[in-house]
Amino acid sequence: MTHEKKTGPDDDFSSSGELFAAIMNHTRQAMFWQDPNLAHSGCNREFAHASGIENPGDMIGKTLFELPFEKKDAEFFHASIQKALSRQRPVSFFEKKICLKGKERPLNIKFIPLNGPGKKESAGVLCVWQDMSEKNGEEKKTAEMKKKFLQSCRLAALGEMTAGIAHEMNQPLSIINAAAGGISEYFSTKEDGGVMKKSCDKILRQLDRVYSITETINSFARKNADAPGVSNLREPLGLALSFFRERFRMHEIAVEMDLERGIPPAGVDPQKFERIVINLLNNALFAMREKAKKAPAGYRKKISIALSWDPFGKRVVFEVRDNGVGMGEETLQRCMTPFYTTKKMEDGMGMGLAIVNDIASEFEIEVEMESVQGQWTACRVSIPAAVQKP
Ligand SMILES: Nc1ncnc2c1ncn2[C@@H]1O[C@H](COP(=O)(O)OP(=O)(O)OP(=O)(O)O)[C@@H](O)[C@H]1O
Ligand SMILES: [Mg+2]
Repeated sequence: MTHEKKTGPDDDFSSSGELFAAIMNHTRQAMFWQDPNLAHSGCNREFAHASGIENPGDMIGKTLFELPFEKKDAEFFHASIQKALSRQRPVSFFEKKICLKGKERPLNIKFIPLNGPGKKESAGVLCVWQDMSEKNGEEKKTAEMKKKFLQSCRLAALGEMTAGIAHEMNQPLSIINAAAGGISEYFSTKEDGGVMKKSCDKILRQLDRVYSITETINSFARKNADAPGVSNLREPLGLALSFFRERFRMHEIAVEMDLERGIPPAGVDPQKFERIVINLLNNALFAMREKAKKAPAGYRKKISIALSWDPFGKRVVFEVRDNGVGMGEETLQRCMTPFYTTKKMEDGMGMGLAIVNDIASEFEIEVEMESVQGQWTACRVSIPAAVQKP
């Protein structure tokens, strides 16, 4: 921000010091002010940035026609400032199209005559604008979120009715999955087995789709009203893994399992733990498939799944680690937020980790995400153990 002491008739009023400068520079609205002779006398950082001027100091003493505005816009500013000065009251414009850095933008602009305390004569004019294209963008985002929210409500209602059915469906589905996988493998060794193998792979791909539908239904199932359960984590883990085994094979993902011996039951409802596992495995699978699209030829997808005691022997830690696309700082910060997603609409709703977080807060579960962009992601879910480590 710049501030020129001697340009206004009221020196005290037009030079109110560093506090004033700090306030001006921390507002998100662009501001500039002119002395009554319409020579430019100052602006805040937002204005300089929006107008494409590197240093706000460059603007001192310049007229509007020397600033990087188009001529018609400079004339508009000039006329509006004169209007505000002659009327001695603010003049406003809504969504006025002004060309900034070569791009036309809708600005809400207000020209405010500045009068020192007790002074009739104006010390100049303050021009404040807000770029409405950003706000319009935010409104669009809110509308999109509302749409997603309604969609999730519909799914929740659907979940109420069908969660049980979806859960039951998974059992026969995993048998079909395993059988189709076996047949496909059998025919891949036969010379004339191409057609059969192709058909089996088609079945497997369609099963993939059915799985994601049942997962979504399961994810929106009603909350369990019972007291927090206790589960032997291996069972729900095994069930969740049975849905993924074939998918891991199809996508050539190496699976490393490390299940510590003597892990006791832990304080979480088994179906909810299964949902946690499914959401984490889903994310890992997607991240590795995404990376495979861009990674060098030698890239090998690998997922590690571990169940172990925490160092204090009071909690059981479930960890999923993948070598997929990883997350940047912003995604890592926001990944648990409902509806936050970096995926296309058809690939994800941004609810998986929010559901994990929701289950975590229902039980005394701690969730920790760690990631290096482009390299790996690890999610650790620590659940209170039913007994302490002997
Ligand atoms: N293992 C991972 N690797 C890389 N990014 C991840 C991983 N897990 C989560 N993310 C990031 O966090 C975001 C939020 O994940 P979340 O599971 O909540 O939603 P989603 O996967 O986008 O959609 P949904 O789970 O509803 O299908 C993802 O869009 C992705 O950007
Ligand atoms: Mg997900």
